[in-house]
Amino acid sequence: MKILVVGSGAREHAIAKALDRTADVYTYMGRKNPGLARLSVNYEVNDESDFGSIIKFAKDNEVELAFIGPEAPLEKGIVDELAKEGIPSVGPTKKAAQIETNKAFMRQLFDDYNIPGSIKHGTFYDLDEAFKYIDEFGGPVVIKPIGLTGGKGVKIVGDQLADNNEAKEYVKEIFDQKMGGFEGVVIEELLLGEEYTIQAFVDGEHILPMPAAQDHPHAFEGNKGPITGGMGSYSDKNHLLPFLTKKDYDESVSIMKQTIDAIKEEAEPYKGILYGQFMLCADGPKIIEYNARFGDPESMNVLSLLEYDLAQIARQIVDGELNTVVFSNKASVCKYVVPDKYPNTEANDTIVTIDEEKINDLDAEVYYAAVYSDENDDIKLTSSRAIAVLAVRDTISESEKACEEAINYINGEVYHRRDVATEALLNEKIEHMKEIRG
Ligand code: GLY
Repeated sequence: MKILVVGSGAREHAIAKALDRTADVYTYMGRKNPGLARLSVNYEVNDESDFGSIIKFAKDNEVELAFIGPEAPLEKGIVDELAKEGIPSVGPTKKAAQIETNKAFMRQLFDDYNIPGSIKHGTFYDLDEAFKYIDEFGGPVVIKPIGLTGGKGVKIVGDQLADNNEAKEYVKEIFDQKMGGFEGVVIEELLLGEEYTIQAFVDGEHILPMPAAQDHPHAFEGNKGPITGGMGSYSDKNHLLPFLTKKDYDESVSIMKQTIDAIKEEAEPYKGILYGQFMLCADGPKIIEYNARFGDPESMNVLSLLEYDLAQIARQIVDGELNTVVFSNKASVCKYVVPDKYPNTEANDTIVTIDEEKINDLDAEVYYAAVYSDENDDIKLTSSRAIAVLAVRDTISESEKACEEAINYINGEVYHRRDVATEALLNEKIEHMKEIRG
């Protein structure tokens, strides 16, 4: 099968690597990702928002279906445009993708369809009404622009915002700048608990959930510093997490299934990957947000455990015939190596060296993210996450140690979080959840 992958990061590298087991992979990427370039039968480096060019590349190469990696082209309707040309996609249509691209739509869906796992929230398009809501809220708030902001728009009182007064200043900024494309805001209650991710394959009707994973969004060790795209993630061999029970997992999946049913009623059948970001609270799982795509880095955790053929799954998704899927009972740890200044957006452009052979000898894997190969085939950093290293073993602890060993073979102006998935950090999470649940 000939499959087009759209996107240029580690998530797309992981998708392409899994597809490459049985399919011919063609890649359309905004930046020359060395990992993707290497495994593609053919690739084009071009503007990822130029749909005409994506369609031409797809047709020239006679691809049978497309797998859309990032959310930006989904928001702009790439799936609808490819469908007009007879090319089906793993990825939701513009309307169905609103579950990620429009936070007001998501919260309204939960209200209208009585989906469990929702939280206290309000959506406002009038600044004074938003201020009044915050004044009368009676507790710390979370402020979210309605549209996409590249993961940088959500601000939390007690984290990036000192108090509810600063939250009001931020709301004004969102209105003034039409941040995320809307002159409006979603205001939510602050949840106490542990965050986790569940991703699922969805064919419009059926959902097949993947192992749970937990990301580490803070830049620095001890969960300190600014929020990033994610500094590393892990999954456990029982497909749960050290603080997450089977009951919590099943409840989360049920919330996702009810969401899919509601999207079908309200918009269009959802086909693709659904990423649920949950908070496990004293009274069970609550939904923080959805993404309409695989997580990054969480995609690497689950795809490395996938024992079914991803190309066949992709075909079943577009045909509405998802049936069953198997993941191996192993633990996985993924750690991101990032430029020294990250998440500062200053360009770096220095060379990073990766001894992939040594890393593979250690039975670990390398996924290329926001790096590019230059004309000499040197691999250069940009301003964002550079290289993900993944190890799969019988336990989280073994995987974590293997990951650390492998990272010794990456050199340059880079750093990573050594504490991701360590026993000490996991114990903190277990204790935290025990406190919260009483
Ligand atoms: N790991 C966060 C995300 O994929 O959005």
